[in-house]
Amino acid sequence: MSTDFRKSTVYQIYPKSFRDTNGDGLGDLRGVIEKLDYIKELGVDYIWLTPFFVSPQNDNGYDVADYYNIDPAYGTMKDVEELIAEGKKRGIGLMFDMVFNHVSTSHEWFRKAMEGDPYYKDFFIFRKGKGAGVPPTNWESKFGGNAWEYVEKFDEYYLHLFDVTQADLNWENENVRKEIQKILKFWMEKGVRGFRFDVINLISKACYEDDETGDGRKYYTDGPRIHQYLKEMHDATFGNDEGIVTVGEMSSTTMENCYKYAGRDTGELSMVFSFHHLKVDFMGNEKWVLVPADFQKLKDIIFDWQTKMAEHNAWNAVFWCNHDQPRVVSRFGDEGKYWKESAKMLGTVIHCLRGTPYVYQGEELGMTNTDFTDISQFRDVESLNHYQILQNKGLSDSDALRIIQIHSRDNGRTPMQWDDTKYAGFSSEDSAEPWIAVNGNHARINASDQLKDEDSIFHYYQKLIAMRKELDVIAYGEIEPLAVKDPCIFAYRRIYNGHELIVAANFYGRECTWRDAPDVTGYERMIGNYTAPANAGDGTMNFRPYETAVWYK
Ligand code: GLC
Ligand code: CA
Repeated sequence: MSTDFRKSTVYQIYPKSFRDTNGDGLGDLRGVIEKLDYIKELGVDYIWLTPFFVSPQNDNGYDVADYYNIDPAYGTMKDVEELIAEGKKRGIGLMFDMVFNHVSTSHEWFRKAMEGDPYYKDFFIFRKGKGAGVPPTNWESKFGGNAWEYVEKFDEYYLHLFDVTQADLNWENENVRKEIQKILKFWMEKGVRGFRFDVINLISKACYEDDETGDGRKYYTDGPRIHQYLKEMHDATFGNDEGIVTVGEMSSTTMENCYKYAGRDTGELSMVFSFHHLKVDFMGNEKWVLVPADFQKLKDIIFDWQTKMAEHNAWNAVFWCNHDQPRVVSRFGDEGKYWKESAKMLGTVIHCLRGTPYVYQGEELGMTNTDFTDISQFRDVESLNHYQILQNKGLSDSDALRIIQIHSRDNGRTPMQWDDTKYAGFSSEDSAEPWIAVNGNHARINASDQLKDEDSIFHYYQKLIAMRKELDVIAYGEIEPLAVKDPCIFAYRRIYNGHELIVAANFYGRECTWRDAPDVTGYERMIGNYTAPANAGDGTMNFRPYETAVWYK
């Protein structure tokens, strides 16, 4: 295991969809333990596990009811301890997912608040409405609808930026912050090697006023005390252990804030997830529309974050996929004819960047979006709410469904495809139906086949992950964008200590010529997705559909 996060790669597991060992249709922690050798084979250093704490599962565990105990559907504390120990044996550190912007309304703190206990009521954000039936502000919940829920007993509303069962915590209250530190220390003592902090840049609210021009996000995103809260948490907990790696999920953030969140010397977090590059197929911030992906915008955003974060000594997490995103091969690649080529190309572009790459379960197999044809197959609260909202806006069932099919978070949540059996090896054939349907393409796309095939996407990812360990230029190098305005080519140079790496990729399913291509004579071709070299030798370079290659000197 590399303890330097710049040389490391993280594998993200959504345990509910990873492997079900007891046949109840829900993935579990024993399933993760069972597959540790598979993950080890891929070569990653850390596993980020999404939440498995006690939860009513209204948002699949992002609604935590008890941070100190394991949801029985996932397993037991003994399973967690075994997982940490077995990971350690294999040189894999466990990163846990800490949801601290909100708790489930089933959490004891919220239940006590609802009983009227003033100590706990101040753990939350209760406010008077602006009049009978009018909530305190016009802010919108990220899952749709107004962000305030009325409580008759108090004649007050509580804030929930997400589901109504996810009540926002009041970080202004020092007692809340102390409780959170206690939780982190508890898990550090258990041997956890890292944390991912859920929507952590939303914890400091500027004020509670109507947002005349928007949905409220400008009042709670990167709020006034956010850096103070992060520093305090850092100093009181993981800041005392250099080996701990941390990543903050930064919703609609600005880069200026990320210089601090993920600065080398700012004492906040190791790195950040930002999402601007994954909104290039949105209309502004509006996700529930169909808009073709804007390739120029994608490049501009990635290069902007790459170069400016580097200038400010700050560190990015680099990624295409997670449990909230559609599958990248379906999104920016081609899940049909050039499935394998495009999956490898997309992996290359991410893994050679400056930052710590994250691989989301199944991405290393080129798993695709769901093949769902009916709204009843979807499970995600966000998708179901927005299906309703789209219909209320007057869209037909089929138009609304089309938008959900493209953008739903469930695209990333179908069961991991281990083999070609009935439930794709997620569970055995006599198990209960998986909680969400297996993708019908598991006979063609599965781990068992790819492990046997040297040319598979799995083995390609394995090489990319190993390359970061071998070549310091990938881990530590500067980045220089290339082909910035080229309509098809995504390319960049990495530079470190006299070494150079050139990465180039054709983002399209047709042949493209790169006209101002650098001369790569004398460079070693490290990896690529076609067998013969792409170099035309005359100052231009010809790329076949989704072709990518990496050269090193
Ligand atoms: C994050 C999680 C997402 C969850 C939300 C609310 O964005 O990744 O899955 O629904 O926060 O906790
Ligand atoms: Ca299970």
